[in-house]
Amino acid sequence: MSMIEKIKAKARSNVKTIVLPEGDEIRTVEAAVKIKADGLATPVLIGNKDAINATAAKAGVDISGIVTIDPLKSDKAASYTETLYELRKSKGVTPEDAARLVSDPMYYGIMMVKCGDADGLVSGAVHTTGDMLRPALQIIKTKPGMKVVSSSFLMDCPNKDLGEDGLLVYADCVVMPCPTAEEMAHIAVSAAETARTLCGIEEPRVALLSFSTKGSAKHDLVTKVQEATAIAHALAPDLLLDGELQFDAALVPEVGASKAPGSPVAGRANVLVFPDLQAGNIGYKITQRIGGADCFAVLQGLAKPCNDLSRGCSVEDIVNTVAMTAVQAQ
Ligand code: ACO
Repeated sequence: MSMIEKIKAKARSNVKTIVLPEGDEIRTVEAAVKIKADGLATPVLIGNKDAINATAAKAGVDISGIVTIDPLKSDKAASYTETLYELRKSKGVTPEDAARLVSDPMYYGIMMVKCGDADGLVSGAVHTTGDMLRPALQIIKTKPGMKVVSSSFLMDCPNKDLGEDGLLVYADCVVMPCPTAEEMAHIAVSAAETARTLCGIEEPRVALLSFSTKGSAKHDLVTKVQEATAIAHALAPDLLLDGELQFDAALVPEVGASKAPGSPVAGRANVLVFPDLQAGNIGYKITQRIGGADCFAVLQGLAKPCNDLSRGCSVEDIVNTVAMTAVQAQ
C-alpha cells in the first residue's frame, strides 16, 4: 500500500469534518463529492449557495449530501465576528473589520476551525500561499510549546532504499523564508512529529542539513545549523537527530560513515531539515521533478490543522490533502 493509501485508510477510521472555503471552485466541488463518497472526511463547502450549485451543475456532480454554508446568511456569523474581534482587537481590528472578515469564506472557514465547528481546513486552489497562511497564523496560532508554523513535504521516492522504505520528510519547503537557529530547531522537532503521526514512522531520524558536515566548512551559515542542532537536542532529548550534515552524508550510508562516523542519523536519515526556504523549496522540486518522487505537503505547528494547495492542484491533490488534514486532526 502506498503512503497516501495508508493515510487515507487512517482518515476513514475516525472521520473528521474538513472545511473547504473555496466552495464554488470546480476542482474543490468535485473533490468534496469524492471525499464524501470515499468516507475520508465530512466536507463542508463555504460560499454562495447559488454559485456552489452552478459549479456542481457545470461539473455534473450531485452535491445534495454535502453541507454548504453561505457566510452572508449564517447564524454563526455574529458569534464568529465577536470572537474574531476579541482575538484581534489588540492588532487594531474593529468590530466592522471583524464583520467584513467573517463574510470572507476564508476567514469564515478559519473561524469554524477555531471555534470547534470543523476539525480542519484545506484551501489554496484559488488563494496564494500567503493569503491562505496569514489568517491561519493570525487566528489558529501555534500549538502550545511550538514557536513556529512550518511545513513538511512527504516525498515518496521510487528508490525504496532511501529514508523509510523510500519515504523522506522534507522541512521547511513552504513557510519560513529565513529561519533563525531557534526556529530551525522547532521546524526539526515539528517535522519529526509529522513523520511519526502522519507517516507512521516509528523512529524519525532527523538530519539538519548544510553544505558542511561536522565542521568541514566554516561559515556563519554553518554555525546557524550547528546552533539549531544543539537547540533541537535540548527541545527533544530523546529524538535521533544530528547536524550539521550534507545531503549525501545524511542519506547515503557509506558517505555518512566516512564523513560523520558514529552519528545516529548520518547515512540513514528519514527527516531532512533545510537551513532556509530557498534550499527547501528548490530541494523538494528537484526530488519531485528529477528524482521522480510523489510529494504531499502539510503545514505543521498550527494548533489545529489547516493545509495549503497549489493553485495548479488536481482534484486528486485536494482529496489527498483533505485526507492528510483529517489524520492530523485525529
Ligand atoms: N509561525 C507562526 N506565526 C507566524 C509565522 C510562522 N512561521 N509567520 C508569521 N507569523 C505570525 C506573525 O507573528 C503575525 O501574528 P500577529 O498578527 O498575531 O502578530 C501573523 O502571523 C502575520 O504575520 P506577518 O508578518 O504580517 O505575515 P507575513 O506577511 O510575514 O506572512 C507568511 C507570513 C505568509 C508565512 C510569509 O512568511 C510568506 O509569504 N512565506 C512564504 C510563502 C511562500 O510563498 N512559499 C513558497 C511557495 S509555496 C510552494 O512552493 C509549495
